[in-house]
Amino acid sequence: MDEGLFITFEGIEASGKSTQAEALARIFGDRALLTREPGGTPLGRRVREILLDATTTPIPEVEALLFLADRAQHLHEVVRPALAARRVVISDRYQDSSLAYQSVGRGVGDLIPMVFGQIGGLTPDITILIDLDVDVALERLRARGAANRLDAEAPAFHDRVKQAFLDMAHAQPRRFEVFDGALDVITLSAQIASRVRERLGARG
Ligand code: TYD
Repeated sequence: MDEGLFITFEGIEASGKSTQAEALARIFGDRALLTREPGGTPLGRRVREILLDATTTPIPEVEALLFLADRAQHLHEVVRPALAARRVVISDRYQDSSLAYQSVGRGVGDLIPMVFGQIGGLTPDITILIDLDVDVALERLRARGAANRLDAEAPAFHDRVKQAFLDMAHAQPRRFEVFDGALDVITLSAQIASRVRERLGARG
């Protein structure tokens, strides 16, 4: 590999993305840069607090713009410099989350792709979608006991988000790889690692 690689993890809450992103990062050793949205920069961590605070209710457009503000700063401070240094950037959530949660879930439509274009958004090389039944995800969230503002949305919202992710994966099969989030952690991480290795082999 003589160039940077941008891999994103997507899926509904409690799908196991963060654990799997960490596991994949370990495979790449020092080349990996594990990051996340919202909150991959100091500014982003402040934006994240506003976004996830259950006592603050931004209107849908403001919510969308705050996620995009976080993304613009993240791209500038973290993602682009690391790719320029030929690192493997692994982001726990990215633009597809905004398309699923805000464009479809909240119904803000074109605002997300419009602003993404304006901030020079990059398309990931590989997007790992971890699909999971909403019922199973909500049960995992209940067991964890800590719900953020978006976790607390009604099941119908999470259903729309799940379907939006699947629709995007279907429409862009070359970028997306879909995995079953109901698998145990070890089996799932082995499947993801092997698929990513195959993809990198195919890139030559
Ligand atoms: P987080 O605690 O990181 O949850 P998770 O482990 O599910 O990733 O919270 C991030 C929340 O923000 C999550 O509910 C999904 C939501 N989100 C959006 O709605 N739009 C976005 O663009 C992003 C990046 C996240």
